[in-house]
Amino acid sequence: MATDQRTPEAEVDGAGGAGESLTVTDNRTGKTYELPITDGTVRGMDLRQIKVTEDEFGLMSFDPAFTNTASCRSAVTYIDGAAGILEHRGYSIEQLCERSSFLETAYLLIFGELPTGPQLDRWEFDITHHTYVHEDLKQFFEGFRYDAHPMGMLLAGVGALSTFYPDAKQIGDPEERYMAAVRLIAKVPTLAAFSYRHNMGLPYVYPDNELNFAENFLSMMFKKTEDKHVPKPVLSKALDVLFILHADHEQNCSTNAVRGVGSSDVDPYSAVAAGVAALYGPLHGGANEAVLRMLRRIESPENIPDFLERVKGREEKLMGFGHRVYKNYDPRARIIQQHMDEIFEATEYNPLIEIARELEKRALDDEYFTSRKLYPNVDFYSGIIYEAMEIPANMFTVIFAIPRTAGWVAQWMEMQEDPDKKIARPRQIYTGERERDYVAMADRDGPEKIVGPPARRPKRPRRGA
Ligand code: CMC
Repeated sequence: MATDQRTPEAEVDGAGGAGESLTVTDNRTGKTYELPITDGTVRGMDLRQIKVTEDEFGLMSFDPAFTNTASCRSAVTYIDGAAGILEHRGYSIEQLCERSSFLETAYLLIFGELPTGPQLDRWEFDITHHTYVHEDLKQFFEGFRYDAHPMGMLLAGVGALSTFYPDAKQIGDPEERYMAAVRLIAKVPTLAAFSYRHNMGLPYVYPDNELNFAENFLSMMFKKTEDKHVPKPVLSKALDVLFILHADHEQNCSTNAVRGVGSSDVDPYSAVAAGVAALYGPLHGGANEAVLRMLRRIESPENIPDFLERVKGREEKLMGFGHRVYKNYDPRARIIQQHMDEIFEATEYNPLIEIARELEKRALDDEYFTSRKLYPNVDFYSGIIYEAMEIPANMFTVIFAIPRTAGWVAQWMEMQEDPDKKIARPRQIYTGERERDYVAMADRDGPEKIVGPPARRPKRPRRGA
């Protein structure tokens, strides 16, 4: 509420009481407002009452990229970026990686508690028995060019799933929600493997229900003429740990996309497809692919100093370093490091690992990176591990999408129960022209420059010419 600036403090009607409110003075009017503080936040809408005249819109907050705006309440994942802590439903990522499995962690993320034995059995059974995709989806994949990026194929494939399960539109029905969760977690690996096989010109491999989640994915990727493909346990275990590490990461770019798109009440397949699209970008899930390409360009450890100089001169970015939330070592990167030696023992030697280790060491010794709190993130080493498993670089982000589907589903489910849920619709600060009169073509003057690359512009006669 607004008060006169000179009103004694005791008379200010402060919701929330002393210490739980923010007193703001609008120096344009001299009026003072008391905004309740809840959970360390003030409500953006509480600013709206601050205005100079009654008929104006009211004050807004400006926060591009939501760097200081909580978009929801969530009980799924806790991150303390300064301390390097990541917990799912209160369980540390270290304990989950050591003691849980990806499917158990997915259950935890979605339902909030670790499953009992029978609950886990049922969950694993349901996921295992929904890994097949409709045969028409195979035809759909045939439509892609042989060299289509697998992430583009996955994006389209997940979007296409919504056409096979139209009942998923009933987002208020808990049974439909459950089935969508199961189908998404079960079928994304199948679509991911199909995208790889399509690239390679290999026949698609159907899921094998006798294998566990990670084994089945590797079998769908790599099975050739053998009757059964059972990957080395050290590799399937490592992949399962990588899946746990990537399962959720609170309100990151792709999760925000899933929530934003899902807030329109669209079906969960379409909402998750938005997450896949966001993950595709090199600043998000695409970073692990970019790391590998960067290491290849560096070529040898002696080129590292030059490369770092270019990063400091802002000609390059040190991919796999830095994080919006972690201003400390990314705990996921630390866990990956613990598993690296056993993976490299079971696979062929990869010279990129030497470059990566030396690059990390030098960057962490350099004031440019330490002063900006730039540390390796989860993507710095994950790509090298995938490469050791003979997974090509363009599949890395696709593999990130497999476990993150569990996180997207958990966050989407949580949003459906949120009493604050509303369609996402940010405001803007309009910077353009206003109230111009339409100008007839003959009267327009301005730069002759044609927009777009002229060489590729189709030579079509202008209308009316
Ligand atoms: N290399 C060089 N400089 C960097 C880097 C980097 N990777 N990351 C940040 N900086 C610099 C940046 O130029 C800025 O410097 P200054 O203050 O002098 O202008 C400063 O550090 C702060 O960076 P910022 O851009 O404000 O940080 P942000 O929170 O907006 O961006 C980030 C976070 C992850 C997009 C960014 O660190 C980055 O682009 N990293 C490389 C891409 C990458 O590895 N992404 C994977 C993220 S983890 C997996 C996931 O969750 O998807």
